[in-house]
Amino acid sequence: MSSWRRRHCFPLGWNWHTNRFLFHCFVLLFLLFFMFLLFNNNRWLPRQIIYRGIVEVDNTYSFQSKVSESIPKVFQKLVVSRSKNNQSNHRKVQYRRLPTVEITSNGASQNTPHYGYIINEAKKCQKSTPFLLLLISVEPQQLNAREAIRQTWGKEDLFPGIQIVTLFLLGRDAKGTGTTDQTIINESSQYHDIIQQNYLDTYNNLTVKTLMGMHWITTFCPKVAYVMKTDSDMFVNTEHLIYGLLKPEIAPQTNYFTGYFMKGYAPNRNKKSKWYMSQELYPGDLYPPFCSGTGYVFSGDLAEKIYKVSLSIPRLHLEDVYIGVCLAKLGIKPVPPPKESDFNIWRVYYSDCVYNQIVTSHQFQPTELLKYWNQLQQNKHACSKTHK
Ligand SMILES: *[C@@H]1O[C@H](CO)[C@@H](O)[C@H](O)[C@H]1NC(C)=O
Ligand SMILES: *[C@@H]1O[C@H](CO)[C@@H](O)[C@H](O)[C@H]1NC(C)=O
Ligand SMILES: *[C@@H]1O[C@H](CO)[C@@H](O)[C@H](O)[C@H]1NC(C)=O
Repeated sequence: MSSWRRRHCFPLGWNWHTNRFLFHCFVLLFLLFFMFLLFNNNRWLPRQIIYRGIVEVDNTYSFQSKVSESIPKVFQKLVVSRSKNNQSNHRKVQYRRLPTVEITSNGASQNTPHYGYIINEAKKCQKSTPFLLLLISVEPQQLNAREAIRQTWGKEDLFPGIQIVTLFLLGRDAKGTGTTDQTIINESSQYHDIIQQNYLDTYNNLTVKTLMGMHWITTFCPKVAYVMKTDSDMFVNTEHLIYGLLKPEIAPQTNYFTGYFMKGYAPNRNKKSKWYMSQELYPGDLYPPFCSGTGYVFSGDLAEKIYKVSLSIPRLHLEDVYIGVCLAKLGIKPVPPPKESDFNIWRVYYSDCVYNQIVTSHQFQPTELLKYWNQLQQNKHACSKTHK
């Protein structure tokens, strides 16, 4: 062994036996140098893209592109320096994520984590105040669903004079589908209609997802007149929603919440059910009235109220029930829609007449959505239709 070392490592007549101590010193120094490199140079540490152009290293964030004006408020600027040995005058700015408590209400203790934005669209509402904001809950890998919605009911310029903003709500891929942050960032830079926070996109995190939407409105779009939160497998007749239900010609309402109205529902105590709710999490016998998460509509003023009150209410994983609990605590009563048939939690059999006069129908594949949406556009006047 030592003769091997002597031959291969110290060919210049080095006397191995007398210099064993020196050799050990070398090894130790080399290790120390390696560790110095490892901990001193951030590039060696695992990196995570947190926001377009922001790279997270060990709780500080470097912003590496020119769009620094749209950095979310959860980041605080730390250092600005310019590279010396670099002609390009590249700015190096570091950011720190602010403490998680942003809004506190009634001095409530903050036990709810706030997941920072990976992708944000902070400027969507800056030019003018939208009439309608569509918040669409969708999993990262469901690109086809987003594409279909962009071409159908989620188009932002469907109606002249009515500003619509469409936002897809995403967490991070939890199913190992290979939908990386970069995939989503690419899609987002093309369409600018995605917001994403740093939580796992699972069924039991849907409440987190909805609260991300409420937080976004509170922070970036507080004046929006109406909001609809819905799912990616829904057919939404945006025209009936706007002209039949919300009516832009009258002053926007406040404290208004409607959808598929669910009153008098008891918690499901069957552990095998998708809607199981433990006694511990929700001890009550009945839920307060709420609207099915497949599609509910509310006045924009409620987003901030719901977000703030949510900070003092432990999160229940059933997001629609949870929003109902928030409304109850606020003393705001959701109301049934003008016609019971407006909102549907199941798939309504397609007919031009019926679809002209509903807001939601459920369980649509992206291809079906395109097919029936186009059919409806061609048959808008098939039935006597009153509005518009
Ligand atoms: C200057 O630095 C930036 C970022 O560190 C790098 O992208 C760029 O290639 C550098 N330019 C030169 C000329 O070294
Ligand atoms: C993102 O877009 C760039 C440039 O268009 C492309 O080179 C890259 O492969 C894309 N990455 C992913 C994960 O789609
Ligand atoms: C929700 O997301 C967080 C953050 O990624 C994760 O730790 C947690 O396990 C998720 N919760 C559920 C119920 O999936």
